[in-house]
Amino acid sequence: MDAKGWATYGFVRMPDYRWGIFLADRDPERKIGFGDFHGQEVWQQIPGEYRSILRRLIVTQGDTEPASVEQQRMLGHTAPSLYDLRNLFQVNVEEGRHLWAMVYLLHAYFGRDGREEAEELLERHSGDANKPRILGTFNEPIRDWLSFFMFTYFTDRDGKFQLKSLAESSFDPLARTCSFMLTEEAHHMFVGDTGINRVVRRTLEVMKELGTEDPLAIRNAGAIDLPTVQKYLNFWFSSSLDLFGSETSSNAASYFANGLKGRPDEARYEDHLANDQTYALELPDGSGGVKAEQIPMRNAMNEVTRGSYVTDCELGLKRWNRLIEKAGYSYRLSLPSTRFRRNIGAWAGVPTDTTGRPITLEEFNARKREWLPSESDQAHILSLMHGVNEPGKMAAWIAPPDRGINNNPVDYEYVKMH
Ligand SMILES: [Fe+2]
Ligand SMILES: [Fe+2]
Repeated sequence: MDAKGWATYGFVRMPDYRWGIFLADRDPERKIGFGDFHGQEVWQQIPGEYRSILRRLIVTQGDTEPASVEQQRMLGHTAPSLYDLRNLFQVNVEEGRHLWAMVYLLHAYFGRDGREEAEELLERHSGDANKPRILGTFNEPIRDWLSFFMFTYFTDRDGKFQLKSLAESSFDPLARTCSFMLTEEAHHMFVGDTGINRVVRRTLEVMKELGTEDPLAIRNAGAIDLPTVQKYLNFWFSSSLDLFGSETSSNAASYFANGLKGRPDEARYEDHLANDQTYALELPDGSGGVKAEQIPMRNAMNEVTRGSYVTDCELGLKRWNRLIEKAGYSYRLSLPSTRFRRNIGAWAGVPTDTTGRPITLEEFNARKREWLPSESDQAHILSLMHGVNEPGKMAAWIAPPDRGINNNPVDYEYVKMH
């Protein structure tokens, strides 16, 4: 199906909701777009030698989908409006469906091993001490809507880039499944982008009303001060960067060589073999400094994708900052350095400030509260979380959206309570 083939905006009672498996239309002419098999027919079945790595890729992608639903499962109680509640439900049912899409591939193409992997997807749970989800970000709790908006902006955007890479795959059923999922991912990121936009707008209104930028005064007025928005942004951006993996990766090189996982928008690149190119990295030198290193391009594919992701993340910041500028304030939101607070890759465990300057662990610990949500920041955000269920009404910490969904007004009864 294409994006027009599936969307429906009527009402369905939650117990009657059913998931389907959707794939983008098959292109009989499609050829492998990169790597050692460039130009050959795409595969409708998996060559035996790639079965286990491809299964691993699908399981890792599949594991994130139910994880996000688990992370977000309590947020319905504290939705700032019916409009937001509706969007939460759409995000959640689509992520549930993305799980089904991956399970379909495991069942249809991987035999018994695939069925066992699918069962294990049901056994792991986000944040579970014994059987956590595979990737770190998907075990972080999401107890409040500021985190939800940051997650849908930054972590669903990681999803976008992973799906774009998999949509390039030589294994055609995977490529078609991921192409379709991308159409849904766009709405998730819209929820995050506009959500943060509305938080910032409301904060600016309060700043204007009170005639102050003092975070405490803004908090006392029931809104979210911009430095706190920045700290949540630092947390979710840095966590999401880890999802791309290590800067130097022999796995990434072999995925690329074998055509299993490509670069997002591979067609934009001129050289689809990437055999003789190199990539310049900046790595910690082990004594508090930075050293340059050239590595083969194929080994740098994670970093190439991470770079495209960071560029994409910048766009929202520009829009949010324009709001702040237009309101006449000099504060600016910014993305921290990709070296900041990393747990995976060359910068894992290397303390830096938000500009990426290596610092001592003592300094990092002393300044952590400036950069990341502290307990009191979290307590303030949680104190603002109360469900608002009257059509058109918004919680005090967020501005209404510019428009409703599917041409409905903002005060439309988006969710009917029974
Ligand atoms: Fe998803
Ligand atoms: Fe998503």
